[in-house]
Amino acid sequence: MRPRPLPVRTALLLAAVLQAAASTAAVPSSRPTVRYLADARLFVLETDRTSYVLGVNEQNEVQLVHWGARLARDSDLEPAHTREGYAFESPEGLSENEYPGWGGLRFAEPCLKVSFADGVRDLVLKYASHEIQGDTLVLHLKDIGYDLGVDLTYRVFPGHDILAKQATIRNGTTGPVVVESAASGVFSMPFRLPDDRVYRLTHLAGRWANETQIVRETIEPGKKVLESRRGTTSHQANPFFAIDEGGRADEEHGRVWFGALAWSGNWKLVVERTPENLVRVTGGFNDFDFGYRLAPGERLTTPRFYGGFTSGGFGEASRLLHRLEIEEILPDRAARRVRPVLYNSWEATEFAVDEPGQKALAEKAARLGVERFVMDDGWFGARNHDRAGLGDWTVNPKKFPSGLKPLVDHVKSLGMDFGLWVEPEMVNPDSDLYRAHPDWVLHFPQRPRSESRNQLILNLARKDVQEYVFAALDRLLTENEIRFFKWDMNRHFSEPGWPAVSPEEQKKVWVEYPRAVYAIMDRLKARHPGVEIESCSGGGGRVDLGMLEHVEEVWTSDNTEAFDRLRIQEGFTMAYTPKVMMAWVTDVPNMNGRVTPLRYRFLTAMQGSLGIGGNLSRWSEADGKLATDMVAYYKRVRPLVQEGSLHRLLSPTDDDAAVNEYVARDGKEAVVFACRHSQQYLHALPTVRLRGLVAEAVYRIERMDDRLVDKPQTLSGTALMERGLTFDLRGDFDATSVRLERVE
Ligand code: GLA
Repeated sequence: MRPRPLPVRTALLLAAVLQAAASTAAVPSSRPTVRYLADARLFVLETDRTSYVLGVNEQNEVQLVHWGARLARDSDLEPAHTREGYAFESPEGLSENEYPGWGGLRFAEPCLKVSFADGVRDLVLKYASHEIQGDTLVLHLKDIGYDLGVDLTYRVFPGHDILAKQATIRNGTTGPVVVESAASGVFSMPFRLPDDRVYRLTHLAGRWANETQIVRETIEPGKKVLESRRGTTSHQANPFFAIDEGGRADEEHGRVWFGALAWSGNWKLVVERTPENLVRVTGGFNDFDFGYRLAPGERLTTPRFYGGFTSGGFGEASRLLHRLEIEEILPDRAARRVRPVLYNSWEATEFAVDEPGQKALAEKAARLGVERFVMDDGWFGARNHDRAGLGDWTVNPKKFPSGLKPLVDHVKSLGMDFGLWVEPEMVNPDSDLYRAHPDWVLHFPQRPRSESRNQLILNLARKDVQEYVFAALDRLLTENEIRFFKWDMNRHFSEPGWPAVSPEEQKKVWVEYPRAVYAIMDRLKARHPGVEIESCSGGGGRVDLGMLEHVEEVWTSDNTEAFDRLRIQEGFTMAYTPKVMMAWVTDVPNMNGRVTPLRYRFLTAMQGSLGIGGNLSRWSEADGKLATDMVAYYKRVRPLVQEGSLHRLLSPTDDDAAVNEYVARDGKEAVVFACRHSQQYLHALPTVRLRGLVAEAVYRIERMDDRLVDKPQTLSGTALMERGLTFDLRGDFDATSVRLERVE
């Protein structure tokens, strides 16, 4: 056991308390993060403000004992006890088992179901041993009869009040074992609620152009399944959950247990309320069409399943996740960079890209202060529309007679770096690649190959396909000074056959394909240091913590209409940091016909990672002037937006305005964006009380315009947080921003 580095931890903790950004102050601890209390057979996993406690019960099974606020004394903890069974229910079935196998008298959702070579389909996992190393605990479980082991790895993130679970299933038997379902773990609610209360689930649902809508529902008896069977994360559901005590939590207050799965393939979260009113969330690989055959000696490791607790409401749950993503998950976590302001050509030119047109756009973008110019779809093969060209990653000679170099050089001479759209996992049947390798796509022989957006999916589980894709992208990066790929995926899986391997191996595609995507991204980055990637899938179809380990940003939605975006962004930030949330300012009328002022569009897009996607050749001089000012303002506040603490003050769902505040971690600076979408009957906006500031500090108020009713030039933190600010936003789509800087 490694002793905890007390001085550093304590110093960080004190700094965090002084910054006053958190709603619940942490108590410094000198205890190790992970402890084994041998007498009680308890494992205590402790963060600055929470404890997660597991015990080995009298049946030698691992069971949850506590998950919630940090307990002051280990002596408050009792050993784990199975509950008493009764008719039709067993003690083991009634307990909060940490990783139940499907076997014995257990009827709730299992974490693991296997078939042994001899036909046995019964698995009873018992505690065997453990290891503790710093912030990591590994529990070794073993079946009661067969040499089938499961290693449960827990990594604790002390400053984030979050831990990550992951399971490795090891076949130590002499025959093959088929894993029919494998979860990363289960997060159980630590107590039953009184009869008059029911736990409530918050999750994110939607569809294309309507991603990450917040859904709240009571958790009734039975199961609520959130999942993707589409081969990727999906727009339709997102692997995130938050649970509170029956509506007792809001943005600022209340206990919230939350979590997210780090996987960009078929995933499943089962939110279950058992007949005993135990509420649990099992998360991991989707077991639909699952079947991962382990030869003797082979292993299967599940995705990481993150979970955390706060008593500071949904706002604090989001901030904890945001900070974890920035500091522990994103590829630039060790040497963090701000996201550049980018321009993207898609909505301006669609497939009609060529050298003069893109150069002209680049010149206009540079004048606005854009830092990265991204050419979207249409630059390669026979890609004049979405019916041809995917797979042929060579520059179209008609559109770019001298290759990409003249455009890239021009972009660079304008002071920007260059990015390119690719969709490497796909192929149009009308392409040289498909004509040469029709067997490379996912398909079942003699069956139809369903097309979606006129394309088929390359089977990235195949090594030769991986090599082709890697080589094509590697060549592009080697031959051109490309700093950024927008990596798209514009359809979901169908007919997931892999005829080149035996039928028993084919279902591995659900695991090997997403792993290959991650691996190719990592290889490219290793070969071309500094190259950044955006994960796009027809908008926000591939946004999850697994993808965030490999890409610097994500495309939030193909719906760039500002008012629609505010709600998509609100849901997005429940789980994911604004730093990765790409948001473009585009032209009106937008896809839904709505017309909003440019200023409203900018102030909406500035709340994430700012981009511009309008057709700049149609922008007036006044538009250009406004855009230049807005980009300059964004650059001043972007450290706050991208890495500060987000406080959602007014929700665009509940109110007729969205008001969001982003505070520097040291509380010295903050920015507020207020976007009102409609005013009726002359109603004034409610006063908004700011949060997360230093109470005794004095802040200078920088106004963008006269929309702030309050006249003082300075206000104290207390006044801002207790009396608040009042915005005079009128009519439809009026917006403003104020910036606060600590002066005393
Ligand atoms: C997807 C993306 C868009 C754009 C197009 C190009 O729909 O989400 O932003 O890149 O593909 O075909």
